[in-house]
Amino acid sequence: MPFARRKTSPLFLSETFIMKHAAFHGRKNGNLSIFVVVFSVFLFALFVYNENIRSIAEFPFSSGTRTKSQEVADQHQDLSSTQEDFQVRNHHQITKLQESSTTEVEARQEGQGERPIKVAFTDEDGPRVRLPVLEEEEEAAAHEERAAETGPTKEKVGREESLDSVPEGCDLFTGKWVYDNVTRPIYEEHECEFLTEQVTCMRNGRKDDSYQKWRWQPRDCNLPRFDARILLERLRGKRLMFVGDSLNRNQWESMVCLVQSVVPPGKKTLVKNGSLNVFRAEEYNATVEFYWAPFLVESNSDDPNVHSIQNRIIMPESIKKHGKNWKGVDYLIFNTYIWWMNTFNMKVLKGSFDEGATEYDEVDRPKAYRRVLKTWAKWVEKNVDPQRTMVFFMSTSPNHIKSDEWDNPNGIKCALETQPVIDLPHALDVGTDWRLFDLASNVTRSMRRVAVWFVSITALSELRKDAHTSVHTLRQGKLLTPEQQADPAKFADCIHWCLPGLPDTWNEFLYARIASSPRRL
Ligand SMILES: *[C@@H]1O[C@H](CO)[C@@H](O)[C@H](O)[C@H]1NC(C)=O
Ligand SMILES: *[C@@H]1O[C@H](CO)[C@@H](O)[C@H](O)[C@H]1NC(C)=O
Ligand SMILES: *[C@@H]1O[C@H](CO)[C@@H](O)[C@H](O)[C@H]1NC(C)=O
Ligand SMILES: *[C@@H]1O[C@H](CO)[C@@H](O)[C@H](O)[C@H]1NC(C)=O
Repeated sequence: MPFARRKTSPLFLSETFIMKHAAFHGRKNGNLSIFVVVFSVFLFALFVYNENIRSIAEFPFSSGTRTKSQEVADQHQDLSSTQEDFQVRNHHQITKLQESSTTEVEARQEGQGERPIKVAFTDEDGPRVRLPVLEEEEEAAAHEERAAETGPTKEKVGREESLDSVPEGCDLFTGKWVYDNVTRPIYEEHECEFLTEQVTCMRNGRKDDSYQKWRWQPRDCNLPRFDARILLERLRGKRLMFVGDSLNRNQWESMVCLVQSVVPPGKKTLVKNGSLNVFRAEEYNATVEFYWAPFLVESNSDDPNVHSIQNRIIMPESIKKHGKNWKGVDYLIFNTYIWWMNTFNMKVLKGSFDEGATEYDEVDRPKAYRRVLKTWAKWVEKNVDPQRTMVFFMSTSPNHIKSDEWDNPNGIKCALETQPVIDLPHALDVGTDWRLFDLASNVTRSMRRVAVWFVSITALSELRKDAHTSVHTLRQGKLLTPEQQADPAKFADCIHWCLPGLPDTWNEFLYARIASSPRRL
């Protein structure tokens, strides 16, 4: 299972960015009930593309820095009276967090050099990173040549044999970002009618487009070139479904754009109906779907349009209601992370929503996360036919809220970033809760009947501070005004990603796995 493989050897010593864990310890949660925000009811048209009030409503608020809590408050205009308490609380917690993370990281480095993620940005022997250098251009040109030979427009069905499949055991997630303006982006923003306004950064006023031009180069093998026809052949008569939160929706949009280019107009539809969004390629009788379930299990946030931001309550052992919508799907891609990040504890319902229960316990985040993943794993083992269905789990998508973390004291969150993190003299720590990463990695690895591919995108995505939607996005369903765009400290979204962009790379990993696996029933 290469996707879950861990690398143990220290690689690229001099130029490696060793990703470390942000350890969160010893926090106590204050009483959050004052943050209960009753959300107004948003109405959504079914077939429109500007569905994005949602993206604001589901905006997650990452764990505790002053900046991040500021962001929380910003997204609730009526929070003014409670905002300060929140900041103080979080400020207190972040102090603890920093104290403890140091020791945790050292312990890990001594104890278990086991962390899989070592992402090198440059060639081992090359000079420190630079933007395009000659070899990279040549490499890109070679790529392009191959692309021309088998390009999507000239692709013949039955080409699959020529696909460079990923060698068994190649760790796709150890590698580097290569600037490649020849083969990237894989599609253009204006070519994909299905992109929502939330992610069309250029159309929304972004000036630089180099964030679209980075290609992920695994160290030990190549990612196969994405070929929409090959994927659609694999999907013929089948369903592929992303299940999870807005980051998985971000990735779903990317996947829709990646495949839609080879489907003629009039032969493709996108229908949004409640929790389920379905893109259909008629000639293939294939679907690429997204199902909203931000915690995977049942929660009070399951309405895709109307949900509480602050007062999140889950039922960690309850998954059937959602699960029945996933049965029989041929490719399932799960995630859950960002919704866990706005409080240190998770509220766990005592009883059931159906019975009108309202009381809850507060449970430490990783404890609750483990319970949810156990429930999820049990569902998969019981309901998925491994002969038919492939299952993936996306690792956490990182945020870039504090520019100090990548040594840019003049930065404003991710807003002024036009390049990936390069040449950082210390390990990068953007506040990812690696405990949840580890839990997901462990649970997916310990499945018995059904193999689950853990798609380890976290570390390589942490380098992509340049790739967020920032101020070139929506807020409460409307494009940011020029005034709002001018105030990134308050309005930048450093959680979601522009498209084309980083999620295309995540889908290349899925593609690599799907295209190089034997055909399913
Ligand atoms: C690609 O980037 C190189 C180096 O920045 C530049 O010289 C070249 O003109 C670019 N090509 C395209 C097609 O943008
Ligand atoms: C179309 O695909 C669905 C699965 O998504 C399958 O149940 C159905 O039989 C297919 N129809 C045809 C005509 O192949
Ligand atoms: C939307 O989904 C519901 C429940 O799954 C279904 O009954 C209804 O027919 C769907 N509506 C449309 C327009 O597809
Ligand atoms: C994950 O598994 C590893 C190895 O079995 C173990 O050392 C580690 O404590 C586990 N981590 C979590 C968070 O479960």
